[in-house]
Amino acid sequence: MSERGVFIETFGCQMNLADTEVVLARLAEQGWRTVPTSAEADLVLFNTCAVRDHAEHKVRSRLGVLREEKKARPGMKIGIMGCMAQREKEALVRQFPHVDLVVGTDQFVRMPQLVAELDRQEHVVATDFGDFEAESWSALRTEGVNAWVPVMRGCNYNCTYCVVPMTRGREKSRPPQQVEDEVRRLVDEGFVQVTLLGQTVDSYGKTLGDGTTLASLLRRLHAIPGLRRIRFVTSHPKDITDELLETMRDHPKVARHLHVPAQSGSDRILRLMSRRYTRDEYLRFVERARTFMPDVELLSDFIVGFPRESDEDFAATVSLMDEVRFHGSYTFMYSERPRTPSANLPDDIPDAVKKARCNHLLDLQLTHQEAYHTAMHGRTVQVLVEGPSKSDPEMLHGRSEGNLNVVLPRRGADGAVREDLVGRIVPVRIERSTSLTLFGSQT
Ligand code: SAH
Ligand code: SF4
Ligand code: F3S
Repeated sequence: MSERGVFIETFGCQMNLADTEVVLARLAEQGWRTVPTSAEADLVLFNTCAVRDHAEHKVRSRLGVLREEKKARPGMKIGIMGCMAQREKEALVRQFPHVDLVVGTDQFVRMPQLVAELDRQEHVVATDFGDFEAESWSALRTEGVNAWVPVMRGCNYNCTYCVVPMTRGREKSRPPQQVEDEVRRLVDEGFVQVTLLGQTVDSYGKTLGDGTTLASLLRRLHAIPGLRRIRFVTSHPKDITDELLETMRDHPKVARHLHVPAQSGSDRILRLMSRRYTRDEYLRFVERARTFMPDVELLSDFIVGFPRESDEDFAATVSLMDEVRFHGSYTFMYSERPRTPSANLPDDIPDAVKKARCNHLLDLQLTHQEAYHTAMHGRTVQVLVEGPSKSDPEMLHGRSEGNLNVVLPRRGADGAVREDLVGRIVPVRIERSTSLTLFGSQT
């Protein structure tokens, strides 16, 4: 069998990055090799995101370009996997007849077999939800410091704006022994950090029914020699228990960082979103987290321009941000998603208002970050060095015990390159900063 080439482009969240690694591992076992451009590929895959219209739009425009490429090279196969595939299923093939393969979020581990079916069928659409085959989680990873480790899939919440419950199905957790075995293997391969992934990762274990929690998993992983740092994303505020906060506090390998989206500061909007907490409950959670760990870094997501969001509702989000002073946040303009509950409400906030509210939160966040970063000057943080800085190859980039982005020189005082720092935790004294990055040197 001659070697065939696959090109894959990944959109969306870290879960998709992790799924891509699994697909590449399954294909590599069958002799596929990864190629850097679609022009060299026998199979082009898009691992897609459906969370906002913009994410889907990008894929649609890529598919437009590929239509021409496929006319010139009719042997090339095109596959759509991920959340857009799961959401639209065979409708994608009707809309884009040059798409050969549509593979859902519980089916992609079967990618080699599904591609093989194309020898007998013009189109293959596999989007059933089912038991995700446990033994097939092993992934083809390329980066050397951090490994993404999905520990659960799906989501049992039903936030009214969100496609994820539809595209990822019901929540299911991996057994802790399986996660531990994988992390041990990763450490043997040289990874020093794992980031545990789940849509609501802090509800990990609930579906196992044996008392397993994210906290108990963290304690188990903490004991693995050679593992230096453990991160986890994304948390739902309702599922953060005292046991989890205590475990974070008492286990130094666990990053002091919680990505815990508030989405809005207005009770009226939170209710319309079915977020299942009030503004007060969110603030109490923040207080609780900071009581356990005064230095914990909090990252939030916000949606602006949700249907009916008034100026007062938006002002409540601004005041929540001012009250909490997050260490980071992502702000998104509301995007109506077909067949979600909030699609029944009129998308009544004009684009210009959504944009203005979005910019307002972005500016406010940068102001908070700048102040926080400035307060770090002169302090020493423990940085896990991840590799060369993207913007300046003469510098190294890493992350603090929380989630701060720290840049330090690649060369020592003697001018020699310190390659050996990659993958190590080093004390770095912060000297200056911007709103996005801290700069310092090794002490
Ligand atoms: N599982 C995560 C988030 C998944 S989606 C959680 O529950 O926290 C990532 C972010 O996209 C969400 O936190 C939300 O802020 C945003 N988002 C989701 N659906 C959206 C929509 N329809 N329009 C705009 N932003 C959306
Ligand atoms: Fe979507 Fe809500 Fe589930 Fe997050 S918790 S994935 S926002 S439904
Ligand atoms: Fe997007 Fe699916 Fe992730 S909708 S954000 S790729 S879970």
